[in-house]
Amino acid sequence: MSLIDPQSVPRLAQHYPRAPGLLRHNLAAEPLLGLPALAEAARALPREQVERRMHDAGNGEAFRMIEADTHPADAIAAGCVNDAWIMLRYIEQLPAYRALFERLLAELAPAIGPATGPVCDIKGFVFISAPGTHTPFHFDAEYNILFQIAGDKVFATYPPAPPYIDLARREAYHVAGENMLSWSPDYAAAGTEHRLAPGDALFVPYCAPHWVHAGDAMSVSLSVTWQCRRSRAVADALWLNPVMRRVGLPAYDPAAHSAAHAPWLRAAARRVGQRIGLL
Ligand SMILES: [Fe+2]
Repeated sequence: MSLIDPQSVPRLAQHYPRAPGLLRHNLAAEPLLGLPALAEAARALPREQVERRMHDAGNGEAFRMIEADTHPADAIAAGCVNDAWIMLRYIEQLPAYRALFERLLAELAPAIGPATGPVCDIKGFVFISAPGTHTPFHFDAEYNILFQIAGDKVFATYPPAPPYIDLARREAYHVAGENMLSWSPDYAAAGTEHRLAPGDALFVPYCAPHWVHAGDAMSVSLSVTWQCRRSRAVADALWLNPVMRRVGLPAYDPAAHSAAHAPWLRAAARRVGQRIGLL
């Protein structure tokens, strides 16, 4: 059986990579995504890559880590994540998950490849959220498909453009890893709210700001993310911006260029600069 509903692939091709869109999948019964396997995976990952945070944070500041004596895997194994948001980061480090993600992306290749070329830097994140968990407004500099495995959630997406996100925020991500965004009540009506139940998935465009709200039951979701050659070059150019300003040269702003443009020269300059120890 295919992992992705075959009819979802041509639908994704119609809007990838610019607009969000729903897909259907068959991962809800995948043993690797059941709680026993996820608890085992949480123990196998480096401890710092299993995060436990506040589940009812209204903004990025309140979305802080919870210190506890127990390992988050205990709550996952017991199926009672009722007061936290747990993330298994970089689960692709575990070979069985890596193989699963490669199968998923191979099925999606007819939609992705013609638009952005071969995928690279495949990453996987599992989110186990207490009922009512709110993930504050933020963005991720990656292409992302979120697969809903258990429970339901509302995932609201925004255009990757001002006023929701600007050049300064994008640079801060590449320089310091900051991805939280300021929220304004004025934004509430501007988002597109996608309601996800088990079997649903959502493609989230590169850098599209979003917030997520889990429903009344514990939620399990999988995010599979990737980069392409162009997105890597954009990341390099944004990282280089503070250096460019220091020497009096203009900064690179992705919003000022067409989606087809890539800052190859700046990306090469960063790589060469780092190799010879200048940056
Ligand atoms: Fe996110």
